[in-house]
Amino acid sequence: MNEKDSNKIEVYLDHNAEPTATYSPPGSFELDTSHLEDGPHFLRIIATDQSGYRGVRIIPFKVENGPGIAVDGLRENDIVKGKVSILINAYGGAYAEKWEPARAETPAPIPTWVWVTLISIVAWALYYGIQQWKPTPQFASTPTYAGFAIQAQGKKSSAEQGAQLYRTSCASCHQINGQGVPNVFPPMAGDAIVTAPDPSDHIKIVLFGAKGRTIKGVTYQAEMPAWVEQLSDEEAAAVINHERTSWGNNAPVVTSEEIAKIRSEGNPQK
Ligand code: HEC
Repeated sequence: MNEKDSNKIEVYLDHNAEPTATYSPPGSFELDTSHLEDGPHFLRIIATDQSGYRGVRIIPFKVENGPGIAVDGLRENDIVKGKVSILINAYGGAYAEKWEPARAETPAPIPTWVWVTLISIVAWALYYGIQQWKPTPQFASTPTYAGFAIQAQGKKSSAEQGAQLYRTSCASCHQINGQGVPNVFPPMAGDAIVTAPDPSDHIKIVLFGAKGRTIKGVTYQAEMPAWVEQLSDEEAAAVINHERTSWGNNAPVVTSEEIAKIRSEGNPQK
């Protein structure tokens, strides 16, 4: 269709018999959709040229002037049973006086998959953080971290717990190899109390501390701190057994019940 040759254009809306607009090309007209119902419509354009030939073109379109509609709780073709709770929100429309974003937000519940995703991400982040967290050696020997490490190691075996406690609480003085520091801190390797078949003295010294004693001819100026407040029965047993079975020591081990008994008897020096 060549517009220059045509002399008439008629525009029809839907199935109307009367044209909505009639003019000679080229030209424009305004289609006012505010009088139209929301939904599908079509324009039928008929152009007639000077010799009477007609060109027809049909353009379907959709009007949406009314408010937007959001539905939660029912989707197309859902299969439903009994009572169904459905949340419906309507917002905005081309002719609403002003746009209120708050109204456009349908207060639908957060979908389960969002929760599941969120919780998995957080759980993974925590797991990863704990896995990767390695304190610096200085920090690892502070009371704060030592306490934390004891809590965090819940699932460790008693032997691992004993070794770790010795490292964090005792090795600064008695040394990681149990040799102590000559004339300053006594060795644990081969020590008479640590290797004695009766563990009572070992337990008492670890729980209640000691000072000014002479061991194998050496009188120690430094003090052996009391651990009665810091170590639980299980922890005390673990660290005592670590000393009883490390560096060539091979003494009978103790149970947390034995620790509990001596703890309840109290400090013999007081
Ligand atoms: C601040 C340094 C220090 C720390 C930390 C320390 N000790 Fe001691 N320990 C000593 C000193 C000093 C002695 C000797 C004290 C004395 O009897 O006069 C000693 C003595 C001992 C004895 C007795 C040895 C003997 O033959 O009489 C045992 C057992 C012992 N410590 C175990 C431990 C354990 C277990 C830990 C960790 C929970 C620990 N110590 C932490 C300084 C320390």
